[in-house]
This record gives sequence, structure tokens and C-alpha cells, in this order.
Amino acid sequence: MTRRVCNRPKQLGFLEPNGRYSLARIKGLKGRSISKQKRSDLVKKVFVKSYGCQMNVYDAERMADMLATEGYSETKAMEEADLVILNTCHIREKAAEKVYSELGRVRELKQERQAQGQETRVVVAGCVAQAEGKEILRRAPAVDVVVGPQNYHNLPALLKKSRADRIVDTEFPVEDKFDHLPKPSKAAIRTRGVSAFLTIQEGCDKFCTFCVVPYTRGAEVSRPVAKILDEALRLADAGVRELTLIGQNVNAYHGEGPDGSVWSLGRLLHRLAEVPGIARLRYTTSHPRDMDDELIAAHRDLPAVMPYLHLPVQSGSDRILDVMNRKHTGDEYRRLIERIRKAQPNLALSSDFIVGFPGETDAEFEETMRLISDVGFASSFSFKYSPRPGTPAAEIENQVSEAVKAERLARLQTLLEVQRQAFNRGTVGQSLDVLVEKPGRHPGQMAGKSPYLQAVHFASESHAIGEIVTVRITQAGSNSLLGEWVGSGSQEAA
Ligand code: SAH
Ligand code: SF4
Ligand code: F3S
Repeated sequence: MTRRVCNRPKQLGFLEPNGRYSLARIKGLKGRSISKQKRSDLVKKVFVKSYGCQMNVYDAERMADMLATEGYSETKAMEEADLVILNTCHIREKAAEKVYSELGRVRELKQERQAQGQETRVVVAGCVAQAEGKEILRRAPAVDVVVGPQNYHNLPALLKKSRADRIVDTEFPVEDKFDHLPKPSKAAIRTRGVSAFLTIQEGCDKFCTFCVVPYTRGAEVSRPVAKILDEALRLADAGVRELTLIGQNVNAYHGEGPDGSVWSLGRLLHRLAEVPGIARLRYTTSHPRDMDDELIAAHRDLPAVMPYLHLPVQSGSDRILDVMNRKHTGDEYRRLIERIRKAQPNLALSSDFIVGFPGETDAEFEETMRLISDVGFASSFSFKYSPRPGTPAAEIENQVSEAVKAERLARLQTLLEVQRQAFNRGTVGQSLDVLVEKPGRHPGQMAGKSPYLQAVHFASESHAIGEIVTVRITQAGSNSLLGEWVGSGSQEAA
């Protein structure tokens, strides 16, 4: 039986018993075919823009999956969206302010579309939503809904409610949002590629004195192993070859195992390495204090665990590290790296650095430069300290001037760039496993990632996306490597 549910112009649709709209029947009834344009008019469109970390990328995908079940398809063009979601980041002042300038643009768009009789609903999600709540409604009249990172499973209900009144939902809920989120379809997973993020842990209990994350994401929560495994199997079944396990403090993972005991990240990696089809495992972001023996051993024992680790150190000065509440010294970090390198001699490292933390002297900054020289990083992220409202470091009186911060950042980034280029050049002549992700820049080329997350291009007519091949690196450009195919990858055995 077919029920006619809507006959407004541009929105002709028939609901089948399976809950889908039937276009064929519309065609039959009207006796003419529906143009591509009209067909796309039947579906509402959502545009999601994510700022900040991988957690936000993952959350944006979950929001899109959930809205797909509400009849929304994703668009990359904000101009044609019926629903605009800005998934925001509060980590530094610049990131938070970006949202308001974007909301100005969204407001203009909303007005233009309104003049053409089209409605645009606007949602602010993510960490700025959590931190600023109602203030966003006050500053940005175009916004209909403000929803925190732990509440976005309520989005369909909030969108309905907000027709009566603009709404804010930032209370930390008792229920687990993951239990309320629909699973992504195979098609959605495929469009996202062969490498996928999987959230295993959220929130942070570390309270580094510069950081807003414990306030915007709440306390540490680890998802149970069974749910992670279920999601991993589903991703692998749709062709995913590489999983990046994510969490604000991912190596503090302590989830409930199927037997009721608490599993560490090391143990979880062992289990995930057994998932058929999954050839590569990564995890981010880790804290040096939580690199336990089991996790270090996983780098030695599991070929699927990539020899690449993002391990933020922030500073090389013991005094600054102490005031930051990082709870380790520069030498403890150095010794930790030695232990991990012993387990995995091919290990490449990346890190985050903050320059100009309140009170940082020239000598203390030089200690950071020394740590960088001692350890050697393949890649890094570095930032000027940005005072965040409500965090202890923002209250410290002895703030460093912008000019000094800029000068230190430039020196630090020069050193890190020299190391990055040297690392890339060091791979020339090596044969590296490459996970093929997409066609390359030029015709007849494919592109993928090395174990060290380097982009690699190589000539190929025949290799499929998702294959792991061995490529001999012939040239290192500034942002990618060039190589030639030499055989199938050692990881293909997985
Ligand atoms: N959980 C991760 C990092 C999360 S935030 C960790 O523990 O390392 C990502 C990076 O942003 C941090 O590593 C830090 O380098 C930077 N960051 C955080 N707060 C900042 C601030 N107030 N100013 C400048 N950089 C900051
Ligand atoms: Fe922020 Fe520190 Fe927690 Fe990382 S460990 S999220 S830097 S408080
Ligand atoms: Fe930003 Fe929130 Fe991630 S503040 S870095 S989006 S956890």
C-alpha cells in the first residue's frame, strides 16, 4: 500500500511501507518523469561544518547519519542547505571567534533564501555551544538551536521544539548519546573512505591549566568494548581498512570488557586487530602519563598498530609543565619516548606545543627548543598560548606579550619544519606500505597514506581504493611523497 503524504509543489512524496519515499510511483501517477532537479527537491539538505579536533569530525558524521533518518541528505554547498550546522571549537580564542563571523554569513544567507521563500534552520553544536550556551542566541539572531557535544542525539526533537522558541540544550545528560544514535548506512561509510574515526573515549579529567576541554566535554567516559567492536565490524564490513580510535584522552581508555572486567587501550587494540579487513590501527590523542606497558607492548606486538604516535608534550620546561599541571617532566617524556622506541624502532612522533604560556621566560622557551632537538618530530602542531575564560592559567598575572609569543612561535615552527622535511627526505629510497585512498592529483596516479600519515602519490592504472601496496619512495615534496609501486603491501596479509 502506498500512502500519499504530501502534495505541496516541489515536495511530492509517497511513503512506502518501508518508510522510504517512492519516486517511481510519483512518476507513474503523474505520467511524466521527474527531472533531476525536482528529484533533489524532495530531500531536505543539511550542511555541516566542523572546526577543531577529530572528535568534532566524528560527531559531525554522527549528526549527518542521524539526520539522514529524518530525510536530510548532506550537501557541501551552504547556499542550498535547509539546515546549517556549525560544529564548533573553543580551544583558542581565534577558533571561538571564527564561529561568530561565520554566523554573520549564515544570517545573510538565511535572509536571501527567505526572500526566495526558502527556509534555513541554523544549529550551533560543539564546544562553543557548550561553553557559551545562551550567549550565542543573544549574539547571533539567526541561530535556532544551540546543542552541546553530549546532547546532539536530541537534535531532531530540538529542531521541532525550536519552531516555537529558540532553544539551548547543554545539560550533561544521564543517558549515553551513543545509545540513541542511528548506525551509519554502508553507503554513508563508503563515501567517507577507507580510513575511519571511531570514538572510544570522551571527556577529560586531567585539567591542564590552559585547557577548556574538561569543561566543554565533561568527565572521562569510556565506551564499552562490545559497542566499539560492533562499530568496528560495521565499518570493516563497508570496506574500511584503517581505524583511528579517538578520544580527548584516548590512552586513558578503561572500558568495560565483554567479561565485565576493565579493558585498557592495549587490550582493546589486540581485539580490534583481529577484526577481518582492518589492517591498520591508530589512536589519538594520548597523554604521556597514560602510556602504560600494555600499550607500549602493542606497538611491538601488533603489526596493525602503526609506528606513528601523536604524543603532545606542550613544553620542555619542568617549571612550565608543572604550572600547566601536566604531571611529568621533560626528562620523563624523553625516557618514555626511549621506551616506546625500544618496542617499535621505526616509531615516528608528532606533538603539540604551546609557546608563551604565562610566565614563560626566554630560558624556559629554550628548554622546549632543546627537547625538540633531543627527541625529533616527524610532524607537529604548535600554538601561541591563548587565555581561555574560566581556566586557571588565564588568571596568572604574568602573561607573555603577543610580540614575544609570535617571535617564539616562528622560531619553534622553523625548527619543527626542518625536522619534518628531514623526516620526509629520510623516507626516500625506502619501500613503504601505502593504503590507497583515492585517485592521485594527475591522471594515471593513485594516492594514499604511508604508515607515518604522509600523503604518497604513485603511478597506477590498476590499484583499487582500500588496497595496501608497497611503494618505493623516489622523491619528497614539501607536503607529499612521490613513489613507484613495487608490490603488494606486507599488511595485505591482515
Ligand atoms: N587532549 C590533548 C589535546 C587537546 S587540545 C592533550 O592532552 O594533549 C589540542 C591542543 O591544543 C593541545 O595539545 C594544546 O597544545 C593546544 N591548546 C589547548 N589549549 C590551548 C590554549 N589555551 N592556548 C593555546 N593552545 C592550546
Ligand atoms: Fe586539555 Fe590537558 Fe585534557 Fe588534553 S589532557 S584535553 S590538554 S586538559
Ligand atoms: Fe576544540 Fe572541543 Fe575538540 S574545544 S579541540 S572541538 S574537544
